[in-house]
Amino acid sequence: MYADNKIRRNTIRDITKLKNDRPVVSLTAYTAPMATALDPHVDFLLVGDSLAMVLYGMESTIGVSLDTMIEHTKAVMRGSQKALVILDMPFGSFEQSKEQAFQNASRALRETGCAAVKLEGGIAMADTIKFLVERNIPVMAHIGLRPQAVHVMGGYRTQGKNQEERGQMIEDAYAIQKAGAFSVVLEGVAEPLAVEITEKLDIITIGIGASADCDGQILVVEDMLGYFPSNAKFVKRYAEVGQTIDSAIKQYSDDVKARIFPGNEHTYALKPKS
Ligand code: KIV
Repeated sequence: MYADNKIRRNTIRDITKLKNDRPVVSLTAYTAPMATALDPHVDFLLVGDSLAMVLYGMESTIGVSLDTMIEHTKAVMRGSQKALVILDMPFGSFEQSKEQAFQNASRALRETGCAAVKLEGGIAMADTIKFLVERNIPVMAHIGLRPQAVHVMGGYRTQGKNQEERGQMIEDAYAIQKAGAFSVVLEGVAEPLAVEITEKLDIITIGIGASADCDGQILVVEDMLGYFPSNAKFVKRYAEVGQTIDSAIKQYSDDVKARIFPGNEHTYALKPKS
């Protein structure tokens, strides 16, 4: 706490020093009310480009723009006080050149107030990561199953199951660390490989469909709340919010049709004459 009693937001250092201490807790958030609900319980919030599918009903994450990511990150910043907030760089906003990545990542930090960006890619993005980090932009990398590469990967498949993929991923992980990323998301990675990478790296690994032995975990919050139709094996459903909403809306619909809603307690009477 600072003297003015404001809650201090977690820093990158607060997160990185959790390696070999306790697992890092994180979730995605796209809106202010969700950020407010998650904030007391997580170390960081990721404004993931998964919002393309979860919020906007798109087929994949490919279609979301940087402008959209920025608006949602502003909302998450407004809704949270304590969690470090990370913006996920969308497809097309960083791959063209290091300069393009800096232009867009610096805009993201400047306009939203978030502290870091995440970008998908391993060795191919190492120069870009280095360029950003040298210019004061903290980077979380993302390897394994990379949803932005769905078309070249031929679908959403667990990665690292064969020797070639395994070797490539270890190279990716080392290259990312050397480039200066403070963390790496391991998505859809075979468990023994996720463990090996976590043991080999000094930076923190955040698993999603990887291993409980990663340095931390992340899930798409709508998946774990049962508010998005995910059948991924790695999602544990902690609630069935979709069902709760369905029965509440059905009740509302029945009440309106039966003129039970609004009741007297929900309507305004005329002021009595004085
Ligand atoms: O976009 C996203 O939500 C992500 C997480 C699943 C890591 O990249």
